[in-house]
Amino acid sequence: MTDKSLEILPDKSSLIERSLQLVLKKMVTAIEQKGQCTIALSGGSTPKPLYEALASQDLPWNQIHIFWGDERYVPASHPDSNEGMARQAWLNQVPIPAANIHAMITNEADPAIAAQKTEQHLQEFFKVSPGVFPALDIILLGMGADGHTASLFPHTEALQVCDRLITVGNKDGQPRLTFTISLINQAHCVLFVVAGADKQPALAQVFADQGDALTYPSRFIKPQGELIWLLDFAAGEILAG
Ligand code: 6PG
Repeated sequence: MTDKSLEILPDKSSLIERSLQLVLKKMVTAIEQKGQCTIALSGGSTPKPLYEALASQDLPWNQIHIFWGDERYVPASHPDSNEGMARQAWLNQVPIPAANIHAMITNEADPAIAAQKTEQHLQEFFKVSPGVFPALDIILLGMGADGHTASLFPHTEALQVCDRLITVGNKDGQPRLTFTISLINQAHCVLFVVAGADKQPALAQVFADQGDALTYPSRFIKPQGELIWLLDFAAGEILAG
């Protein structure tokens, strides 16, 4: 049963500060309990200041493993790359071993092959057989104004894939790689970090008692562990009591 919580922070900077506090707490707990922390990063623009803040933390970087919940189908050098953004904002600034950075594969001609190879890497890292879904410690997610999360876009085939860890998402005909709903929902903690008034209408639909998850895919996210929504007031005003 998902343990769901919602916090609405006054503004973007306090949202990022709270996100940092929670991420650090979860990282330290995972390392204390298991000797390592596995965290999947979200892309887009919202998390960049969070990654910049993480760059100035003194953490046992050799015990932290970085994944991505989704990736645009471009090289890390491309301005749209989620990997490239996180490396520039954070990972290039800290002594994390290169082997602890588990980027999605985006250099295959066929994105479906890249998805398979990325999935195989996760299976090897987590030592799981095909069909078994590993539980990451933390999965960071954003949400688009259309209610998508990761690269799980409304009414796309990716929403129907339940037997894979990684699949090919589709944003306006452009391929992306994405964690599947099944993989995300295995997480010990899913942390949504959402900012901006443009997200309000979709948030109202995602939080409504009844709704269409195919139209608002963030509704599919019900992890077996914690589900924490952190919003700034601009995004969350509509939900404020
Ligand atoms: C991506 C993200 C995506 C993002 C939302 C919100 O690759 O773009 O993973 O799911 O989190 O689109 O993006 P913003 O933070 O830029 O609003």
